[in-house]
Amino acid sequence: MNTVPLLQVALDYTSLPQALVMAALVAPEVDIIEIGTPLCKAAGLDAIRAIREICPDKLILADFKTPDVGGLEAAMAFDAGADMITVIGGAAIATVEQAYSVTREYGKEMLMELTGVRDILARAAEWRQIGIDRIVYHREWDAQSAGREWAEEDKTTIRQLIDMGYKVTVTGGLTLDLLPFFADLPASVLICGRGIREDADPRGAARQMRLAINELWSGTNGSAPSYRAASTNADTAAKAIRWGVSEMGLSLTIDGRDCPGCNSAQRFCHGTRTDILLPAGADSQQFIRQLLSSLGPGSSHAAGVGAPGSFYLDVGALSQLDSQSVLGMLSATSMALQQVGQPANTRAAMTVANDILSS
Ligand code: 5RP
Repeated sequence: MNTVPLLQVALDYTSLPQALVMAALVAPEVDIIEIGTPLCKAAGLDAIRAIREICPDKLILADFKTPDVGGLEAAMAFDAGADMITVIGGAAIATVEQAYSVTREYGKEMLMELTGVRDILARAAEWRQIGIDRIVYHREWDAQSAGREWAEEDKTTIRQLIDMGYKVTVTGGLTLDLLPFFADLPASVLICGRGIREDADPRGAARQMRLAINELWSGTNGSAPSYRAASTNADTAAKAIRWGVSEMGLSLTIDGRDCPGCNSAQRFCHGTRTDILLPAGADSQQFIRQLLSSLGPGSSHAAGVGAPGSFYLDVGALSQLDSQSVLGMLSATSMALQQVGQPANTRAAMTVANDILSS
């Protein structure tokens, strides 16, 4: 029986707040969180640090696809909190060697990325000489959109790589339906990006992938606890925001010391709007500008300046009222705070809100 491959989710975003939301949502269902190449370019090391902060116990891969200056890029990624990096297959052998040498110094992992490589087996043999033992076999996005299908020849090449001593990660438009095609391969890791992120229920989709992988590779679907897709209503969403911003380190304008709690009919906060004190010294205009730009045009009424020294968040004005949007509101608030120089505990905020939304 094959070893069960790990599941890696690819966060191919251009906005860090969106990526944080997805990481918080799907982390319990996956083994590795990938900072996708577009996210590496859009938010760089901040993305690695932020994902590390909210997912301290997960493996994090920075998909740099490093083309040159291998040692420096590897050190940058590892110093920021990554466990693994990728180097593009077309890189000079000196780049591969330098990145690998730094990877070993840090005690981390490095994978060669086969995107665009035509002489795969010849290059792979060369990399094995250096000691490289991890490789990403990729059906590229652009090749896929130009009509490239997964084929038996791909599996033959993957088998040859495994026979050479590689642990192979397989990626490129993987979906639940495609998993049986790969089930006779001892792949090390399977990556799924769009198949999870673009699902209406990303955590549920990640969980389905995990269960299908368990079943196909080990003949069991395991005994993982059952998962109920997070649904939300305005009251629960507002509670998630109130608890979330409090965990983040902010205070509500309402004094809650005598409040009997969110589940009580006598609670102090009503409606979907939450008024929050801005930390002393924060530039409120700059903060709101940052926040609104992260929330996006459809949600321009979901946040604004409140009474002097305060701002509000209103889940009722979100363009969609689902867990993702509510967590997005929190991660956007946290990012905006940090951009105006204020500390914010994103991880604590997302954790408490996630718990409330999925209970
Ligand atoms: C693109 C990538 C992607 O992260 C990888 O292809 C996984 O994403 P998806 O499952 O959406 O294809 O590296 O170059």
